Amino acid sequence: AAAPEMVKFEAVGASKNVALITLNRPKALNALCNQLMTELRDLLQRLDADKSIGAIVITGSERAFAAGADIKEMKDREFSSTYSSRFLEDWCAVSDVNKPVIAAVNGFALGGGCELALMCDIIYAGDKAQFGQPEINIGTIPGAGGTQRWARVAGKSVAMEVCLTGERMGAQEAKEVGIVSKVFPAAECVPAAIKLGEKIAAQSPLIVQMCKEGVNRAFETTLREGLHVERRLFHATFATVDRKEGMRAFAEKRKPQWKAE
Ligand code: CAA
Repeated sequence: AAAPEMVKFEAVGASKNVALITLNRPKALNALCNQLMTELRDLLQRLDADKSIGAIVITGSERAFAAGADIKEMKDREFSSTYSSRFLEDWCAVSDVNKPVIAAVNGFALGGGCELALMCDIIYAGDKAQFGQPEINIGTIPGAGGTQRWARVAGKSVAMEVCLTGERMGAQEAKEVGIVSKVFPAAECVPAAIKLGEKIAAQSPLIVQMCKEGVNRAFETTLREGLHVERRLFHATFATVDRKEGMRAFAEKRKPQWKAE
């Protein structure tokens, strides 16, 4: 495949085990056109299979994480082809990554850009970050999870306000409503996300994936079913080498040596 043009990738952190993906379409504020999303999807699939990578950070520029789906590419679309090509369904590839994915958001995270951040497992924001679902202003609605993920994370009232007004929300408020876990001065957001990635990548990659699967269930099912799945995943850790090693290392007062088995 040709080298990607709209997404940049670099292995970062002291052990080079964190993948830093930078959305790189500055002229359009990282609007998520087909090419960019195809490149991002291919890169994520490759990194998910790469044993040297333990966590993934997605970021944009200081000005824009991403300003949404590409409106110029969408403006002449018709219902029939949009429906039959299942437009936007392939964006699910981002939330289907097994490894932990952290969004480091500076500047605009609007429309599909906000939805992309919400597909990630953890969101860190720079203090100038702006979140929003402005689709209503252009006669459409969020199509990549905005109505659903805002509602589940921030609750109905906040979700309705964000989606029905299209108004933007600053980083601090996004933290207050639970969309964002931490806010940093803009320049420190990406380094902090990389540090977080390193911390997670130092754990057993196998157990990290099982834990992520467990938390994700909380968004997809009833509490009873979710608790059942969590217990089964917990039981399954007892079949792993790393669970034995982790508990043994604790008892022997030493650091565990993870085998990803
Ligand atoms: N699609 C295509 N191009 C975009 C874009 C988008 N979503 N957002 C910005 N751009 C382009 C602009 O057209 C402009 O290009 P030109 O220089 O060729 O004119 C360039 O990026 C810079 O943008 P602005 O000049 O508008 O910059 P600004 O600082 O004045 O405004 C902004 C920034 C407030 C983010 C403004 O660009 C904006 O409102 N963008 C659109 C945001 C939006 O509506 N997003 C939702 C898209 S729909 C969607 O995402 C559907 C879904 O659920 C998946």
